[in-house]
Amino acid sequence: MRFLGNAALIAGGVGLFSNALAAQSEAVYQNYAITTANLLVNKYYDGSTGQFDTLWWNSAITHTALADLSALLGGTSTVGSHDIFPMWDDLYTKHVGSTSVSNQNFLNPYYDDEGWWALFWIAAYDLTGISKYLSLAESIAADMHNTGQACGGGIWWSKSKSVVATIENVLLMSVAAHLANRVPGSADMYKGWADASWVFLQNSGEYNGNTFLLGGNTDTSTCKLVAGTNNIPSTYQQGVLIGALVELATAHKDGGYIDVAKSVAHVSITNSDFYNAQLGTMHEPLGGFDNDSAQFKGILARNLMILNRAHPDINYLNIITKSADSIWANARNADGTIIVLWDGNPSGNNLGSYSLEVSTSSAFECLIAAAEMVKGGTLGIVVD
Ligand SMILES: *[C@@H]1O[C@H](CO)[C@@H](O)[C@H](O)[C@H]1NC(C)=O
Repeated sequence: MRFLGNAALIAGGVGLFSNALAAQSEAVYQNYAITTANLLVNKYYDGSTGQFDTLWWNSAITHTALADLSALLGGTSTVGSHDIFPMWDDLYTKHVGSTSVSNQNFLNPYYDDEGWWALFWIAAYDLTGISKYLSLAESIAADMHNTGQACGGGIWWSKSKSVVATIENVLLMSVAAHLANRVPGSADMYKGWADASWVFLQNSGEYNGNTFLLGGNTDTSTCKLVAGTNNIPSTYQQGVLIGALVELATAHKDGGYIDVAKSVAHVSITNSDFYNAQLGTMHEPLGGFDNDSAQFKGILARNLMILNRAHPDINYLNIITKSADSIWANARNADGTIIVLWDGNPSGNNLGSYSLEVSTSSAFECLIAAAEMVKGGTLGIVVD
């Protein structure tokens, strides 16, 4: 209570958010997260493929969220009613070296898909210390990097080399920055890869210096962002950039990267496209969600949690806990699945067509973030 009282006072002083913080306890959010973990595994997990609801990149996100929850619970293999470390061992064995599966060695035609899986295996390595998981992440990163570069540090979005977009580049930046901090013998090489991605993102205008990471394509003759309606900032790209910058700050021992991450986070939680000012929750622009976009917000939530470790900030705590509260109150179906709009859908909008595994997994990331961030307590909280 002392924490919440102080936090409310601090939040009141900031004036950024109209509602004072009224977060619940860590135990409450942890319980939400565990309940949702059980639902996801029971309802959607297919042990024969290691995937959730036959989804590929989304499954990497759900596995990563399970790793986050395990870490929060003290690094235990038991998460809710499931034993997750053996699940990952099985997942590894099924895909690595086997010729009878699709997406062998976690490679496929899309470099962004590969990046999500590399980040998952890094999270699994962090948790278990199993070195073959880190080696697997390295081999995935090499596949991404070796695509043949376009525009300096830019990589193609897919193996058909049709476009150079944002997400696969910011993912390579993040994967390489993570590896730089975990593979001492190759740290310089990975720092070089991450730096090259970051330079590409800035020079191309994919990151426009106004703290937005746009979603568009690069003209590979001019190496500049193609102007047009595809340049829509989206929560997940903001999130991946934040996580990449936090790792790069460690790799380069340079807090300047945290400052950039803070400014990206600030835009990500205040821009009206991403923020429901009335409820104080995270939001996503409306318009026909699909199995990709229904996943996005949770990725931003996860990376706000990661930034909050380096730079605890009452504003991150506020939006994450309000979102978690609203998820539980407004966005949950009777069977425990969670819809894509965390503020619910009181206006009855047409939300498009997406698997409830995807939106539940996305919300799951926010519930975990709430549990971790509430645990942080008052110490070290900074208000900007
Ligand atoms: C979303 O994923 C589910 C599960 O894989 C699939 O059945 C469905 O067709 C997908 N929806 C769209 C719009 O692609």
